[in-house]
Amino acid sequence: ISLKNYNTFGIDVNARFFVEITGLVQLQKVLELKAYPKKFIISGGSNMLLTKDIDCLVIHIKLKGITVVEEDENSVEVKVMAGENWHSLVMWSLEQGYGGLENLSLIPGNVGTAPIQNIGAYGVELKDVFASCAAMNIETGELEGFNNEACEFGYRDSIFKNHAKDKYIITSVTLRLTKKNHALHTGYGSIENELKNRGIVHPTVKDVSDAVIAIRESKLPDPKKIGNSGSFFKNPVISKKAFDKFIKSHPNAPFYELEENEYKIPAGWLVEQCGFKGKRFGDAGVHEKQALVLVNYGNATGQEILDLSKKIQEKVKNTYKIKLQPEVNIIK
Ligand code: EPU
Repeated sequence: ISLKNYNTFGIDVNARFFVEITGLVQLQKVLELKAYPKKFIISGGSNMLLTKDIDCLVIHIKLKGITVVEEDENSVEVKVMAGENWHSLVMWSLEQGYGGLENLSLIPGNVGTAPIQNIGAYGVELKDVFASCAAMNIETGELEGFNNEACEFGYRDSIFKNHAKDKYIITSVTLRLTKKNHALHTGYGSIENELKNRGIVHPTVKDVSDAVIAIRESKLPDPKKIGNSGSFFKNPVISKKAFDKFIKSHPNAPFYELEENEYKIPAGWLVEQCGFKGKRFGDAGVHEKQALVLVNYGNATGQEILDLSKKIQEKVKNTYKIKLQPEVNIIK
């Protein structure tokens, strides 16, 4: 079957075999199937670039359910099954009056993939609200628990991108949210401005979510209309030494100072300066409002998107001596 509708880039590759998972026991049984030794897991398909047919059993995770597992006056723990849509969860949490997810509004993808790259936006990352997750060991079929520390979260990074890669299927995620005294994160420049423009002085969690949605809609393409996977590259982190040299020759460049003498340069700026913003090569392109996002205008192949990303990496490397790393999981 075609996987075009199962990845937000809308890449039209085929799966040799395909199964949809709605229960944990079913998942265990499928993992035991000796006839299909190789398996490929797909959930929301929002952070991958497929470049060729998947010549094995594709397991589509459709586990559903949201349950409050613990609660007191101030906070609540919510267990969410992996196949729930991330943004629907955010909307649900706001309807309950829970705080913590508002800055992460409108991020494409499903709950089960959120920990893999520690999704983040506007000064908040998943790790800030993450209590634990359950993951099925692909080898043994057993469920294992990972608390926040065990996940080794970093910027767009976790254990599931490193030594636990391809060894687990995340089946549920438990989040700790606030019921009152919400800790709002409105310091990120564009949120502050958006709230100000709306005349909001004492924002609620819903106000922050509305602001984030408005900002995202104004610059990020909707994957339902134009195929994409959000930021294609990570924002590069460079040393103080490299930064001093860089900023001397590019005094107007935006940057964020991190701890430990490190600096983050927005990759979108680098890509834009290299002249790629809004450029189109066949059906593969660079989004016109956010140069960090590569897009599929319809029938681009994964290889075409990948070639474009390499062209960008090369130009940025030659111009700025900075190496851009893909954020998206490239399936070769
Ligand atoms: N910029 C440009 N040109 C562009 C895009 C950005 O010059 O085409 C400059 C902007 O002027 C600004 C800076 O880059 O000074 C930062 O831009 P923005 O606030 O849009 O954020 P970003 O660094 O490009 C990151 C995340 C996004 C997240 C936003 C907001 C990464 C790789 N990306 O983007 O995450 O929504 O911050 O927090 O860290 C995603 O991961 O898919 C994603 C969209």
